Amino acid sequence: MCGIVGYIGKEQAAPIILDGLAKLEYRGYDSAGMAIAGEDHQINYKKAVGRLKVLEELTHGGETMPGTAGIGHTRWATHGAPSDVNSHPHFNKEKTIAVVHNGIIENYIYLRDYLMKKGYEFISQTDTEVLAHMLDYYYKGNPLEAITKVMHRVEGSYALGVLFADQPDQLFAVRKDSPLIVGQNEDGCFIASDVPAILKYTRKVYFVENQEVVRLREDHMHFYTIDEEEIHKEPTLIDWDANAAEKCGYEHFMLKEMYEQPKAIKETLMPQNNPRIRGDEITIEELDMTDDELRAIKKLHIVACGSAYHAGVTGKYVIEGLARVSVEVDLASEFRYRNPILEEGSMVIVISQSGETADTLAALRESKARGFKVLGIVNVVGSSIAREADKVMYTWAGPEIAVATTKAYSAQLIALYLLAMKLARVNNTVTKEEYQKLLCDIKLLPDQVELLLNNKNHIQKFANRYIGAKDVFFIGRGIDYAISLEGSLKLKEISYIHSEAYAAGELKHGTISLIEDKTLVAAVSTQEALYQKTISNMLELKARGAFVLAVTNEDNKAIEKEADYVIYIPKTNAYFTNSLAIIPLQLFSYYVSLGKGCDVDKPRNLAKSVTVE
Ligand code: F6R
Repeated sequence: MCGIVGYIGKEQAAPIILDGLAKLEYRGYDSAGMAIAGEDHQINYKKAVGRLKVLEELTHGGETMPGTAGIGHTRWATHGAPSDVNSHPHFNKEKTIAVVHNGIIENYIYLRDYLMKKGYEFISQTDTEVLAHMLDYYYKGNPLEAITKVMHRVEGSYALGVLFADQPDQLFAVRKDSPLIVGQNEDGCFIASDVPAILKYTRKVYFVENQEVVRLREDHMHFYTIDEEEIHKEPTLIDWDANAAEKCGYEHFMLKEMYEQPKAIKETLMPQNNPRIRGDEITIEELDMTDDELRAIKKLHIVACGSAYHAGVTGKYVIEGLARVSVEVDLASEFRYRNPILEEGSMVIVISQSGETADTLAALRESKARGFKVLGIVNVVGSSIAREADKVMYTWAGPEIAVATTKAYSAQLIALYLLAMKLARVNNTVTKEEYQKLLCDIKLLPDQVELLLNNKNHIQKFANRYIGAKDVFFIGRGIDYAISLEGSLKLKEISYIHSEAYAAGELKHGTISLIEDKTLVAAVSTQEALYQKTISNMLELKARGAFVLAVTNEDNKAIEKEADYVIYIPKTNAYFTNSLAIIPLQLFSYYVSLGKGCDVDKPRNLAKSVTVE
């Protein structure tokens, strides 16, 4: 949520900031703003409601804001509606201190009242403005001192970029519980919420830890604790492909990322230098657990949000089915407040693409505080969850830019399958033959996904018929229910069509009253043992006027008699069908969204990386 970029160096700052913000726009896109250190110890700034391009036009691509040091922000509104006055940067009264902020200041009402009693006036509805005035209150010519004093007083989460008008040769970056990195090249130093913002300029980055402050100058950076003690940090070299944050000819990042799924699956199965399938063995080195320790796991708690939660629901079916280990899946936002029962022999798995989701991070901390080991299944290397989890199993999907996740979700499924197979192997819950079949089938998934992606034309045609749909339902049983949840989320989030996912047998307990003539119902039916049951549910719906799209295995031709339209997926192991069934559902959502003219990569009201509760 919200993107921050800062630059100080030999180059003009504004174009670099705008360029970086464009790469972070997926984090928020209600409004944007920039502050640049000008001549005569003044700060020039511009803010604009709407997408970043409004700010770009307003500043002629940054040309009208000369200067070599500055900070910028793209906003996802939390406190106060999107408006010029609520946009960042925020200032003290004299506009000599500029602040951009990602996070939430939880005690801002108390601090605002405190400052108002001291004569400070507030012009916005944001929590951020309190930071600018607090800095002003404490600033006596030493920025580091003022910043750390503010850090001692504020509660909540923050990643900040701060600029002082009388100190144009330095910028400050500050962090607590919201992501922030800094980077450096020969020409200058950078602040960013996420790597893609500065990947074009440098691969040498430093992860700022909680309650640290960075002073950035043209040619060096210094790191400090909240108590102003200087600390030494080692840089991390980012080895992402330079194309990772570019569309590379695809119309949207979402389309590009869908097409990257075969690679994401391959990389997660066989990470370079550390393959997870070696001969007949599954090796998950990051687990760092002996077979006896794995056998001692009595229960798994999977905790995540959104699509990552849906991957967890699939994981429950696969792990329980294959390894006979009991799995509870929780929404992270619920887990931490329901006082969950974690018993001896339990292990917690948190799943997150960004590694920064506030609720998932809080669930991780809650579990650790209770003395339980946490495994993070994470995509972003070096993210907060990756750093705080006891063990990290990376999904090697590469950077995901589109707000709606596709390839990271697919990679999460693979990580869970590997875990399930490993546990099944040590628990001896599958026969040798079954295990060999699983190994063989999992390796085929990348090619099968590719095949489905290349067969997109008929899905596009079908999707075009549903651009005007009011409601769409997704149904399935068992594992097919898990994929229905994800299919439904994909559709509603990018096309704004109301959609719900139901366990196929459950619809008739109330929701079936919503079925009208020609309502589209996508029935996922990939579990041979349940074919007939799902067909019965399809027929109940058809009898009430529904148009039934079936997604099923290629050998289930009998379904054609009952369904109105059929999409086939290649035959795979019953436990892996979600990896294939999701592809047509993603494509369907994409083409409906495209046909409706929605902003596929940046759907309304959303943001990637939800760093607020
Ligand atoms: C949906 C989507 C979200 C995320 C959720 C968790 O397409 O992307 O539902 O899955 O916000 O995010 P991470 O995985 O970053 O924790």
